[in-house]
Amino acid sequence: MAPVPVNAGNDAQNVINKPANFFYSPDAGKGDADARGADYEFAKYKPFLPDVHWNPLEEVEVVDRGLSADPTKKNLLSSASKVIDLTPTIGTELHGIDLRELTDSQKDELALLVAERGVVFFRDQELNIHQQLDLTRYWGPLHKHASTPIPREPGLEEVHVVYNDASRRPDPAGLTKQDLWHSDVSYEVQPPSTTSLKLITAPPIGGDTHWASGYALYSSFSPSFQKYLESLCAVHSAVEQADGARAAGVPVRRDPIETIHPVVRVHPVTGWKSVYVNPGFTRRILNVPKAESDSVLRILFDQIAGNLDIQVRFRWEVNSVAIWDNRVTTHAATFDFWPATRHALRTTPRGEKPLSVEAYEKQGQVAKDRQIETWKQQGVDPWIWDKSSAPRGCND
Ligand SMILES: [Fe+2]
Repeated sequence: MAPVPVNAGNDAQNVINKPANFFYSPDAGKGDADARGADYEFAKYKPFLPDVHWNPLEEVEVVDRGLSADPTKKNLLSSASKVIDLTPTIGTELHGIDLRELTDSQKDELALLVAERGVVFFRDQELNIHQQLDLTRYWGPLHKHASTPIPREPGLEEVHVVYNDASRRPDPAGLTKQDLWHSDVSYEVQPPSTTSLKLITAPPIGGDTHWASGYALYSSFSPSFQKYLESLCAVHSAVEQADGARAAGVPVRRDPIETIHPVVRVHPVTGWKSVYVNPGFTRRILNVPKAESDSVLRILFDQIAGNLDIQVRFRWEVNSVAIWDNRVTTHAATFDFWPATRHALRTTPRGEKPLSVEAYEKQGQVAKDRQIETWKQQGVDPWIWDKSSAPRGCND
């Protein structure tokens, strides 16, 4: 990863205006002049990297708004002109909804829909960044990222800027495509929940984002492997992201942390089990031999990136909005659009501390497998491995 030149300019606060999307798009070090100048329509939302220091995040109580939702989601869905499930496992597109106009009950129901479907897409949304912040803040206290850019306009420290233009040619030497899969800031003690991204400048083609369902990943495994995964915890680390930022000359605004999370977490609203690891930030499984940790994580990462049955791909347009539940999905961007500009703004509520199956069930509820529950609702016999009549194992 090439160092990013520091351009303090004549700003007395020693700020860096050079955008450095070092984690998502390693910079080739080609130069420090943005391709889009001051006449760019959204110049005030271009990346800004203040040299400031923030204290560690304090624990906050979060009550999921989805718990207040009408399970039928009638207030939200009756307002939509079209509801399109993009795959059986993940992704729904809602048409005819203006995100500026949602009532509180519709916001509760949207949180529930996002929790169930993993990611929900909207097109032609006119909401501005302040309205986007308000919408997301409804779902939880907003997260401030420790090292990625914020907009140049003051007062928007809770916004995460995604920006690439012709001056920032992706460097394929930095990361594999599998490495790009992540759940946002999963190293936090209270990782994000119902997260939104709005595209404000779109490339003519390319720049799609893929999401993978942690519920469906869990469902894809045999019962014995599911049980094994439920017994594990893993370390999620911000250290490499912070080191990458520093190597790029970018100030790290909050000291990086490492946090232990269960490998299978339960969504507090749906009660469904979801695999919670990602190539971006999960580094090792605890209390098992390293060879075992490496092998298990390799299986999980390979499936996240390679199992097409658990993924959805979204093609962005200007004013498209995606709202996804970072607790039960991973995602990866494509960097196939250079030299075009792609510019998006993310707002990110903090969720609860991840609940293991054991912790969830201690509350008196039984955690479920989403696929089994879906088949039951469809009135079909849930096919599971240990009911299979096909000969397998040692007799094969
Ligand atoms: Fe992300």
